[in-house]
Amino acid sequence: MLALRPGLRELVTVSSRLSCSRNKHTLPDLPYDYNALEPVISAEIMQLHHQKHHQAYVNNLNIAQDKLAEGLAKNCAKMQIAVLPAIRFNGGGHINHSIFWKNLTPKSQSGEPEGDLLKAINSSFGSVQVMKDSVSAAAVAVQGSGWAWLAYNPKSKLLESVPCPNQDPLEPTTGLVPLFGIDVWEHAYYLQYKNARPDYVKAIWQIANWKDVAQRLNEAKSK
Ligand SMILES: [Fe+2]
Repeated sequence: MLALRPGLRELVTVSSRLSCSRNKHTLPDLPYDYNALEPVISAEIMQLHHQKHHQAYVNNLNIAQDKLAEGLAKNCAKMQIAVLPAIRFNGGGHINHSIFWKNLTPKSQSGEPEGDLLKAINSSFGSVQVMKDSVSAAAVAVQGSGWAWLAYNPKSKLLESVPCPNQDPLEPTTGLVPLFGIDVWEHAYYLQYKNARPDYVKAIWQIANWKDVAQRLNEAKSK
């Protein structure tokens, strides 16, 4: 064994522990059963979406971050740059879906926007219906795969509807804070709605978790 001076050996031991202590990302549990969002979203879609698609983003994010750590350890800019697209895509997928599951709730518990959230919606859009129409239009208009968000703009203090391509995470790429997202990747609706994305987008408002949206707005305003 390599002889190390006292002190240096302790430093190496601590460094080794630190380098091994990075927690891997894990798939979060859903806050409801797979069939809880029926009839709006089928149990089959929810199970595949959560166990296969979200799990894949988590797995590939962990792999990409391991490669980034290796690139950082070797101080190799080429390795670091090569892995950034995978971190953006899979990290975005993990972030977006972790919000999406909490944004939804069984139909019987959805309710309506209230309090500060309702005031913010009315002052930004004029009414809840106009807000829904605006976010829905953004979702339907996404070309290919992506998301539409009801978001808080920290600069204007207003709410906005905004599309986001692929799995780009809204806040790191735009500065807008995501409040409610509609996943318009085909894996989110095709087994049930086929090519009728507008029907899926119209139906998803029935299972919006307005308490979660209100909480996200409060947190965004207090940052
Ligand atoms: Fe998805």
